[in-house]
Formats: sequence, structure tokens, C-alpha cells
Amino acid sequence: MTVHLARRGNVAIVTIDNPPVNALGHAVRRELSDTLARIEADVDVAAVVLICAGRTFSAGADVREFDKPPAAPALGAVLRAIDHATKPWIAAIQGTALGGGLELALACRFRIACPNARLGLPEVTLGLIPGAGGTVLLPRLIPADKALEIIGFGKPVNAREAQAVGLIDGIAEGDLLEAAMDFASGILVNPLPPPAIARQVIPESAPGAFVAVATRIAAKTPGQHAPAAAVQALRGSLSIPPIEALAAEAQTFRHLKQSDQSRALRHVFLAERNTTRSVRLDGAAPNDLAMMGVIGGGTMGAGIAAACLLAGLSVVMIERDTAAAAAGAARVSEIIASSEKRGLISAKKHALIKRAFLTSDDYAALARADLVIEAVFEDMGVKKQVFAQLDAVTRPDAILASNTSYLDLNEIAASTRNPARVIGLHFFSPAHVMRLLEIVMPDAAADRTLAKALSLAERLRKVPVLAGVCDGFIANRIMSAYRCECEYMLEEGALPWQVDRAMTAFGMPMGIFQMQDLAGLDISWAMRKRQAATRDQDARYVEIGDRLCEAGRLGRKSGRGYYWYPDGKTPVPDPEVEALIKQESERKRLRRIVPSDAAIMERILSTMQAEGHRILREGIARNADDIDVVMVNAFGFPRWRGGPMFMETRVRTTDTVQPGTDGPPDQDQCRT
Ligand code: COA
Repeated sequence: MTVHLARRGNVAIVTIDNPPVNALGHAVRRELSDTLARIEADVDVAAVVLICAGRTFSAGADVREFDKPPAAPALGAVLRAIDHATKPWIAAIQGTALGGGLELALACRFRIACPNARLGLPEVTLGLIPGAGGTVLLPRLIPADKALEIIGFGKPVNAREAQAVGLIDGIAEGDLLEAAMDFASGILVNPLPPPAIARQVIPESAPGAFVAVATRIAAKTPGQHAPAAAVQALRGSLSIPPIEALAAEAQTFRHLKQSDQSRALRHVFLAERNTTRSVRLDGAAPNDLAMMGVIGGGTMGAGIAAACLLAGLSVVMIERDTAAAAAGAARVSEIIASSEKRGLISAKKHALIKRAFLTSDDYAALARADLVIEAVFEDMGVKKQVFAQLDAVTRPDAILASNTSYLDLNEIAASTRNPARVIGLHFFSPAHVMRLLEIVMPDAAADRTLAKALSLAERLRKVPVLAGVCDGFIANRIMSAYRCECEYMLEEGALPWQVDRAMTAFGMPMGIFQMQDLAGLDISWAMRKRQAATRDQDARYVEIGDRLCEAGRLGRKSGRGYYWYPDGKTPVPDPEVEALIKQESERKRLRRIVPSDAAIMERILSTMQAEGHRILREGIARNADDIDVVMVNAFGFPRWRGGPMFMETRVRTTDTVQPGTDGPPDQDQCRT
């Protein structure tokens, strides 16, 4: 049984108990419908409290049922019966009420929530709009512009915000069930308001507010169908009778459910939750970690330290001298202060964090650390020195992690006394923001070491993806492959701004050449110079990057790179770069043919996919879904396209990209 019915006096208590998140799957819908019928028939029941077991109210429709044939009763039908119930239902909300979970609460006559509850209609994040009355009920309870904010951005609101706009009727400061029971006694002595669906007088928005929100949504979600459909549904919802609006909403929901975008978003949602599903390890509970060590207070080290501090861990940061330690501490403090300014943490938590953070130039301060993450300069010699010191000062059971992006972790591990406790934890910058964490497994790493790393990922609320040891792991290896392909395209006829335009039109936040300008061209130039002697001389090598650096064009920081930055930040196509590229094509006797944007994107995608397959064959990634999770979370591959590996499995439609004319790309060398 997933729905339980109890009675206290004349109040029925309905409890949904469907772990882990009380999703409204078929059994719940059927039992809820039966329970409603029993309550309606019971003359002794005057009111109903609806509550959910466990840590959360309900996460809505069961995402895992979406690709199965529909099974009656539909959620909409159950909720319409609650709308029209003769006895008032009171939703008692703890944790999250999301999607169908909030629609269920909206169908109830009243809603009260715990102070830490979150309420939202995040369907757009799955390529959908609410399908069980959300777009019809919500704007009958709160102003339409606020309803559009919640539905069109898919971002939940907290209990205080919900109360302020009129979405809930009260906040339960103490025990939720008791508060709901008290609330039930209170309402029985007064005339009941009509159900949301039948309200004639609805809250008004300020003039122009709805259009302003719709404009913001359109600007934030180019290329995506669901947010635009949400705007349309809400507009319609207030201009036609509710019954017609419900039918229109259901039709749009069914249509979107079949779309490539929704399938892609659902794929990523499930893939992100599956990355460690088959990893079964004992030996580390999430609260096993208390004190972290971070070596290096540069951008990456400071970001990692801040991420740990914000997650409630203590951090000791080690730098080579007191001046460097002070600079590292300042970087961390800046991140924490800005978290408070943005309302992400309270002043009290800020004060606690300050007390949990220590910097030192003495490795001995790490004696009590449970896990140490090294984030120093990418040089094998430097890393080995750090690990030798860690070997000497840390507890024998402490985990030693490296944040290297491409160095051989087996070699680092082998340089220590106990390689079993060494692992790679590859964060992405800014480390306190980016959700992806590549966990890189050297050959000798023990299960316990991996278990601790996974605990840390959970504690930091990161998406962990397991990767094998190789140059670049999953993310950087694929990036390096397609960057190389983009450079080939420059020699063959494209220009940087055309490649970047094709990528942003596809949905990437930034093109590859703008991204390189931002990162600075000199770092990879230095690396290429170091590798020059050992490079395969027969391999195709694109010299455009070297020529730019030789001309002092080191990227945005120097005002010029692949682009010109006249105001220091806006990239402008530069005829000088065009001339330089054409000169290189000529030097190599390559005939320039300007490709279409679609052909550019097709070539980039094929390269990502080919490298993805290579990574799979080599066992670097465990499965194709993990690669999609990495690409979406590391480099802004559009989530609504599902990732390169997912796209390969789909029949190409106009929703994806136009097939290009190029043959399979030349997947060879070029690793920098
Ligand atoms: N349907 C089915 N399963 C769901 C689900 C849903 N709507 N929402 C969450 N789950 C499952 C997850 O897949 C996960 O399963 P697993 O333990 O087998 O991996 C489990 O519930 C816990 O979810 P997770 O996201 O790992 O936990 P969390 O505490 O970080 O977040 C939520 C909980 C509810 C906030 C989050 O899962 C969420 O946002 N869910 C989607 C809500 C949504 O979009 N609803 C609208 C559906 S149209």
C-alpha cells in the first residue's frame, strides 16, 4: 500500500508513503482515488489532512513511467476529483512539493508548509509544462506573473516566498501534522473558499509584469520549446474557461512528452542519478568526513576550499609561504562573502565557516585531515613533492587526492608509500559552482578510497562521474579532440567567429575560440612548446595558435587573441586574424571551402562522439550516459539536447542539427 487512511475525530488523515520521494506513480494514483471515494462516502469525516511520509512531500509524476503506456487513473483525473471534493482537503507539506506534487497540493482547498519546504513546478527542466492543472490552478491563486516565474523558469520557491504570494495559507512552525490538525479545526468553523479551479476573482498582476517575465524567459531559454509553451499555456489559461484550459494544457503536455527535447532532458535527469548506481562499496558514510586539507590557494584550490566550507566541512589550506597563504585565504573569503551577499548562506553560517577555516605554510597542520586535495601547479615533479610531504604528515587512513587535469595519477600514486589511498578528484572551475566531479581511479586505489571520494561528492552535492586514468580523463579529452577539429576547420575554410556562431546557435554557452581567448592562449602554447620535441612529426599540427601567441595575442587578457577586444571584453572579428588564418591555409596548400554552420556543428558532434566511443573502448568512461553527464555539466553542452552520445542514438530531426556534408572527421593526433 502506498496510501494510508487514518481518522482522528472528524478529520481524515491521508498519508502517501512511496519512497524515496513519494512520486505519484500508478499505484499512488489508484489508491488515492479509492481513498478519496471512501472519504466522500464517510459522513463522519468533515475535513482531510493530506501528508506524505519520509523527508519530502512529493516530487510529482513518476519520471520512470513517462515512456510507458498511460495507466488510468491519470493524475489530472484524480486531482479534479479532489478539486470538487465535498470536504476540504488540507495539504501538509514538508521537504519539496514539485511538479505533480505541487499540483496535488493546489487541488487541495488549503496548503500549509514547514518553514524549510520548497514548492515548484519544474516541468520545464524536463522539457514539459505541468500536465495536471498547474497552469490553470496556480494563476487562480497567485498573480499570473508570479505563476509564470514559477512555471516558466521551473525554479522552486521557499515557504516564506510561497506565503508572501498567497500560494500557501500558513507556515507550520512545530510538528507538521499537529499544525495541520489545528488548521483543520480552524477552517471548519468558517465558510469555505471555493476551490482554486472555481475562483471567479483572481489575483491581478501589475501592468506589464507578465510580459516582462515572458521576455526574460525567452531571453534565457533560446531554442527550448517548453518555456515558450508555458508562457502560452498561462496566457490561455486566464482567457478561456478553466475546463478548456485544462484540456489545452493536457494536450500540450502530451505533445511535449513525445518531443526530442523532453526525452533528452529526462535522459540527463536519470543519467545524472545513475552515475554511481552500480558502484557498491562499503566503508564510508557521508558524515565520515569532517576535516579537509587543500594544497594550493590559487583559483582552483580556493574554489575547492570554499565548496568544502559551504558544505559544512572544516578546511586547512596549505600554501608555500605566509604571503601565498594570505592570498589564498582572501580568495576563499571573497567567495564566502559573496555567498552571503547572494542569500545562499546566513550571517550565522558565515561566522561558523570563518571558524572552520585555517591557512598555514606548514604541512604538519594536516595531521588530523580525513581527505586532502592537492591543487597545485600542473607539473609532475611539483605534484610528487607535495605527495611526499603528505605521505609524511597525514594519518595513514587519510585519503590523498589530486585535482590534476591530465597528469598520470598512477605515477603520482606510485610515488607514495601507500598508493591505495590516492585518487583523482577533478573539479571544474569555479569549483564551488560547477556540479561535475570527475573521480579518477588509479589502478591501485582501494574501494575505501573511492567510497570516501563518493562521500565527498555527496556532501558537496556534486554529480560524480568515474573516470579511468588517461591524458584528460573524460571531459578534457573530448574537449581537446573537438577543439583540434575546430582548428582543422580554420585551416580548411572556416573562421573563428563562424565556428563560435555555429556552436552558440546549437546551444553551447560560448564558442571554442572565445572560450580559449577567455582562458588565455599562452598556457596551451607553453605546453605545446614543452611537447614539441616528443610530438609525432607526421601528425597534423595546426600552427594558428602559435602564430597568434607569437604576435602577442594571448587572448582576452591581452586585448587580442582569436578576436579583438576593443573594450576589453566584447569579442570582435579581427581582419588581422582572418589574414593570418588564410596565410596558414595557403602555406599548407589547403583549398579553403567555407562550410555551412550546420556542417561545422555536425563535424564537432561527430568528433565528440568518436572520441566518446574511443574513451568507452579504453574503459576510461563506464558508459555512454556518463559521457553525456560530463559534457552537459563540464562544458555547457545543451542539456535539452541530451549530450553527444544521446544525440547519436536519436533519429536526427530539425530539432537537432542539419546533417552536414562532410565525411567522418579525421580522428588523429593533435593533443595539446
Ligand atoms: N519520479 C521518479 N523518481 C524520482 C522523481 C520523480 N519525479 N524525482 C526523484 N526521483 C528519484 C531519483 O531518481 C532518485 O532515485 P534513486 O535513489 O533510485 O537514484 C531518488 O528519487 C532521489 O532523488 P535525488 O534527486 O537523488 O534526491 P535529492 O534529494 O537530491 O532531490 C528532488 C530530490 C525531489 C528535489 C529531485 O529528485 C527532483 O528535483 N526531482 C524531480 C522533480 C520534478 O521535476 N518533478 C516533475 C516531474 S514532471
